[in-house]
Amino acid sequence: MSKSHRWLTSLGFLLAVLPLSAAPRQSAPQSPAPQVPQRGASPNAAREEGIPVLSAEVQKACGSCHTVDDKKMMTRISYRRASPENWELTIRRMVSLNNVNLTVESARSIIKYLADNNGLAPEEARAASFEAERRMIDYTYAADKNTADTCSQCHSMGRVISERRTSEEWGLLLAMHRGYYPEAAAFRARGGGPGGASADGGGQGGAPAPASADSGGAQGGAPAPADGGRQGGAPAAGGRGGGGGGASAADRARDHLARAFPLQTPEWASWSAAMRSPKIAGRWALSGYEAGKGPVYGEVTISEQPGSPDAFLTDTRFVYARTGQAVTRKSRVLVYTGFQWRGRSADAVSEETTWREVAFIGRDWREIEGRWFTGAYDEIGMDVTLRRVANDPVVLGTNVASLKRSTTGRAVRIYGANFPRTLATADIDFGQGVTVSRISSVAPEMVTVDVDVAPDARVGPRDLWLAGAAKPAALIVYDKIDGIKVLPEAGMARVGGVVFPRQLQQFEAIAMNYGADGKPDTKDDFNLGLVDVGWGLEEYTATFRDDDLQFVGELNASGLFIPNLDGPNPQRSGNRNNVGDVWAVATYTPDGSVKPLRARAHLLVTVPLYLRWDPKEIAR
Ligand code: HEC
Ligand code: HEC
Repeated sequence: MSKSHRWLTSLGFLLAVLPLSAAPRQSAPQSPAPQVPQRGASPNAAREEGIPVLSAEVQKACGSCHTVDDKKMMTRISYRRASPENWELTIRRMVSLNNVNLTVESARSIIKYLADNNGLAPEEARAASFEAERRMIDYTYAADKNTADTCSQCHSMGRVISERRTSEEWGLLLAMHRGYYPEAAAFRARGGGPGGASADGGGQGGAPAPASADSGGAQGGAPAPADGGRQGGAPAAGGRGGGGGGASAADRARDHLARAFPLQTPEWASWSAAMRSPKIAGRWALSGYEAGKGPVYGEVTISEQPGSPDAFLTDTRFVYARTGQAVTRKSRVLVYTGFQWRGRSADAVSEETTWREVAFIGRDWREIEGRWFTGAYDEIGMDVTLRRVANDPVVLGTNVASLKRSTTGRAVRIYGANFPRTLATADIDFGQGVTVSRISSVAPEMVTVDVDVAPDARVGPRDLWLAGAAKPAALIVYDKIDGIKVLPEAGMARVGGVVFPRQLQQFEAIAMNYGADGKPDTKDDFNLGLVDVGWGLEEYTATFRDDDLQFVGELNASGLFIPNLDGPNPQRSGNRNNVGDVWAVATYTPDGSVKPLRARAHLLVTVPLYLRWDPKEIAR
């Protein structure tokens, strides 16, 4: 195992398992405390107003290196705001590289204090929510291409836009990167010559102490590039050279960030005044969607957790609408900055499979929206929306996404909350051309009915009305299935299972009606919902005599791709091991048709993400 790798592994478990004080020490006990670089990028610039640190615990734990002045301003800490995840990342680095001694409890409460008091406003956090929600999306930071190119070489831009700093602090961040990655092309002034690594002499405040050889020489060399959410590719190597004209790419990125993400903003001024602990205890209706499994409906009961106004316990019940599979989960939640829900849940029965919950609490405390996820790469998950329930009926959705014309006696399950004890067919209205012929069962959260669809019913969406509650576009009436589509159109998986975990890819197939124009991929198309298809893999002929199919892995009957093992595969030519490019192919024969419909999506099966750094603590 490489030195850097060992460093990472020992850290990986630090906050999760060990009391921090028991963390393996990498330096001699009497090594001098590292010096905190404080001289900024622009020493002559007027100092921007900081944020006082009023917590005695933070002052005590951090004050030996980050001095506190008479206005309670702490060096570095007062000049930065960040998401809870980014605060956790920093504190982990303080523990690992700067030998800060903290217990788990104290680390937790410091993260909480800083995320609350030096945090992000909802408007600021919104743009970066994909980062905390660990969505596998291609995010493009469009505001400045140079910044996007320079700063997304090793981690996602999400990490960058999860912070606000004074311009001096953006400069010191660059100094930290230069200290840790003197070789990275991104940080060389003017694109430097190979090995030049001329950290720009423009007053970056010097290389950060922990990375430099003279800080006790105890760190065992430069720290490894740790990372979470990197998109793949080697961290430090490669990259672009600087801009050519004067300042390096990184310096220009710093200037852009100082303008675009300042410490003081109207949004933060406003939110930090309005912020308070959310009053969210009570009943909430849950609607969600899980790729490959379809819609889920249910209810969440949130209760206060004694001891903190920001801590909650939840009891969740939901049903996968298509199959009727019922799930019960329990979670513990901590809310940061008044609106950022971070939780961890387990199956209420088996207590297995921990899911992380990341959500955004609406300012009116009536809606909570986010993602619940699991998997080695957080790749499995569902989008979730919670809406407050009172005593009125609520319709959440149905088990079928679409109904074909001329259907008779089709059973439909309607999910919701507070349904009346008794219902007549007249209490349920599916809209034009759809009639309820029978009500077969009524329960507070589910009503089962039989419906008929007229042969001349218009093709299009129907709003469902039940005893005073309405669900717009609850389902689609269609004449025929014109085609199917595989989603996502481009998937990615990572081999694993020996040294590194695997990254799975879930595919799903949906039926499409091409609408009035009869053409695919136009605005009038209707999504008729998930269909159960046959799945298979086919060769993507990128290279001559391609043999990827035999090596990459398997696509199971539910559309879940399980990649093959990582590590060397001597059977494979050209050192390619088990990586490759294939098509995920779906085949479906609609009722009453003989000709199967086919659709496919590209699947890239690539190498593991060797270095990863996940904030784990804030999602306890
Ligand atoms: C033993 C000395 C020491 C202690 C104690 C310490 N730090 Fe640091 N801190 C440093 C050094 C050195 C740097 C500069 C290098 C770096 O960023 O890793 C730094 C940098 C920082 C930065 C700027 C990082 C950035 O992203 O630009 C923040 C914020 C910070 N520390 C927060 C804290 C907090 C919060 C605590 C208390 C839990 C703490 N530090 C305790 C030594 C310390
Ligand atoms: C050579 C790889 C690399 C490049 C390029 C890079 N970063 Fe980083 N960055 C890292 C790593 C690794 C960390 C995690 C450091 C740690 O806490 O150990 C990090 C952490 C950060 C953090 C969190 C800091 C903290 O204290 O937790 C921010 C913000 C950040 N980077 C911004 C940027 C910006 C802005 C750029 C472009 C100018 C950039 N990064 C380019 C590797 C890189």
